[in-house]
Amino acid sequence: MNWAVQKLTIPPPAPIAAGMARLVMENLAGAWSDQTLQEILQQPTSFGFFTTAQEQVVAFILGRYLAEREAEILAMATMRGYQRRGIARQLLQTTLIANAGRCVYLEVAADNPGAEALYAQCGFVAYDRRPQYYLRTPGPRVDAVLMRYAPEWGPEWGLESE
Ligand SMILES: CC(C)(COP(=O)(O)OP(=O)(O)OC[C@H]1O[C@@H](n2cnc3c(N)ncnc32)[C@H](O)[C@@H]1OP(=O)(O)O)[C@@H](O)C(=O)NCCC(=O)NCCS
Repeated sequence: MNWAVQKLTIPPPAPIAAGMARLVMENLAGAWSDQTLQEILQQPTSFGFFTTAQEQVVAFILGRYLAEREAEILAMATMRGYQRRGIARQLLQTTLIANAGRCVYLEVAADNPGAEALYAQCGFVAYDRRPQYYLRTPGPRVDAVLMRYAPEWGPEWGLESE
């Protein structure tokens, strides 16, 4: 299925920011606070895309430009009832097309194989690990897997510039 992907305006309208905050609470509460999200949504270096269904935000991706040729994915989330329908993949592919020519970095927790598989599927390659980076309460700390998408490697699905 093809989901309609919308570009996030920075800062976003209040209902979109509120929808994203709901998804952060549902999916990323251990790692992100609402305050972190709201701060990032105000920064001019931030960018993102989102998808709506039944008039609510059901998925988003958020990143920031690091340099002319570098960008970073900060977070992505899909509402539980909408997962495994290809929405995150579509948001990620849109992000890569919008950032054509840039190297795109991200880090993902080693205990999140679903997200890691999604990133690998879209052409990201693991290049290092940051030991015991994420706090888990309760439980031992978890490594961060560092991944990057380098445009010259090209994903199998092919990139077209905007
Ligand atoms: C990770 C996440 C964003 C994926 O969203 P999604 O819209 O369900 O992802 P998609 O449907 O586009 O999945 C694309 C591919 O990713 C992989 N994948 C996604 N979720 C997976 C899971 N739970 N287990 C295994 N593989 C998974 C699969 O390869 C999948 O392709 P397939 O369904 O054809 O097998 C969503 O599970 C989520 O919000 N998780 C909690 C927050 C999080 O971990 N965010 C990422 C770190 S910031």
